Amino acid sequence: VLLGVVALGLAYLIGSLSGSLLLARAFGRADPRQSGSGNAGATNALRTGGRGYGAAVLVFDLLKGIIAALAVPAICELGFGMALACGAAAVIGHVYPVFFGFRGGKGAATLIGVLVALLPGALLLGLAVWIATLVASGYVGLATLLGMVGVALATLFAPSAGVAAKVFVIAMTVLIFYTHRENIQRLRAGRENRFERVMWRRR
Ligand code: G3P
Repeated sequence: VLLGVVALGLAYLIGSLSGSLLLARAFGRADPRQSGSGNAGATNALRTGGRGYGAAVLVFDLLKGIIAALAVPAICELGFGMALACGAAAVIGHVYPVFFGFRGGKGAATLIGVLVALLPGALLLGLAVWIATLVASGYVGLATLLGMVGVALATLFAPSAGVAAKVFVIAMTVLIFYTHRENIQRLRAGRENRFERVMWRRR
């Protein structure tokens, strides 16, 4: 039990290492929470700081999801259910980082890292939905929401998925919809940020 608690704590701390905020500090950039959508994540890093910063944040936040869901449970010799719990702890750390006043990102990139490690099949379907939605609508937030629904449905209806995986995807769907509540409001009001071509410009 103690080892499980240590693993969850470690995963939460790894999740709290916000890529956008750490890299902004390291390279003397402005806090991404002050501009664009105000979110401390890869999308807003791209929006406010350009391709290089956005890609670096994406890789960083993906990797921490993978490490929290693979390395931490392996070191602590924990099973698949606890690995999912460690992944969830990392996503929660990303959203509520202890190192950054509990104001972090929306959890998508970190969750993708966890899914790469633990539920790659469901992730493939989610990514297909994500790409299709982004291309069709131009909204990253909407793509993330529908991609999450895709991951959840793929897991809930997969004969091979166990109870732990099903509980995990339901909890993550609730969390992702909660963290995207402002995106949902903006979408309904027709004021959501579009994924502009300008975002790809080098800055
Ligand atoms: O996960 C973040 C993405 O889905 C939306 O980011 O900055 O447009 O709110 P943003």
